[in-house]
Amino acid sequence: MAYRLFEGKEQASSYWKYRISPSDHLIQQVLDFLKKQNGGPYELAVDVGCGSGQGTVLLAKHFASVVGTDISPAQVEVAQQHSKEPNVTYRQCVAEELPFADSSVDLMTAMSAFHWFDRPRFLREAHRVLKPRGCLALLNYTIDMELSYSDCCSQTLNQVCKEFYEALKPYYSPHLGGKSIELYREAYNSSPYPDKEWQECVWVKRPMPLFRFIGLVESFSSFQRLLREDPQKAAKLSQDICQRLMSVMQVTSEDTEVVVAVKYFYLLACKPQEA
Ligand SMILES: C[S@@+](CC[C@H](N)C(=O)[O-])C[C@H]1O[C@@H](n2cnc3c(N)ncnc32)[C@H](O)[C@@H]1O
Repeated sequence: MAYRLFEGKEQASSYWKYRISPSDHLIQQVLDFLKKQNGGPYELAVDVGCGSGQGTVLLAKHFASVVGTDISPAQVEVAQQHSKEPNVTYRQCVAEELPFADSSVDLMTAMSAFHWFDRPRFLREAHRVLKPRGCLALLNYTIDMELSYSDCCSQTLNQVCKEFYEALKPYYSPHLGGKSIELYREAYNSSPYPDKEWQECVWVKRPMPLFRFIGLVESFSSFQRLLREDPQKAAKLSQDICQRLMSVMQVTSEDTEVVVAVKYFYLLACKPQEA
């Protein structure tokens, strides 16, 4: 069953404005794993659940062609509007039925998306389309991002952030059944591919204006659910949190730059030669 939570045009453009992508260093770790399994050349990478395409484009210089796919027409439209790389294209389709031939894909990624899929069906589909010695990379990050600002006390700052995340807990999707990291760990443990790697914690630091950090949290499905159920409560929550963060930082502008540390985790797995 597909979970269609990211369909609206507003959600898609909020993705484009606020979502973060993995760092080049993180993408390099994925490429190093691929290279270790199979020396190339690499023709095709597919980024499934690509959203507005921020992560997809990071693959462009490493493959002859890259295709971003997403269930949401609005997300695909935004990705196409911002697309600059000539070798990157986007297709609207479900992760569980991909429009690629058997054994045709060198690398398949899903960035912050695998947990929304029908996971067993997607994994079967990934197995079908991956080339022998092609790789699957499933990346995600946790909501509990940490802020730092100048010489301001990070403990006080992060206490406010924690309250933001706690307030969203009742709105987590029941589909995820708690923490998404468990779903990835389970996929890693049950993967029949012998060549696989699990990373539980890779910190990626991103400088950004404070309003963008707030927008990033607002783009999460839990905040979006609160927004649908009680728009006033949602608006008040993020305004209060933003005000309190500014007060701890002793600044008056939401444009003030903070550093956001994001905790990524990932699963890498290589389809065996004989499968
Ligand atoms: C949390 S967003 C991540 C988007 C992007 N990869 C990123 O890193 O910002 C999850 C994306 O997965 C897509 N999605 C959810 N279920 C899907 C499915 N069954 N098939 C394809 N895409 C799906 C959503 O439309 C959404 O764009």
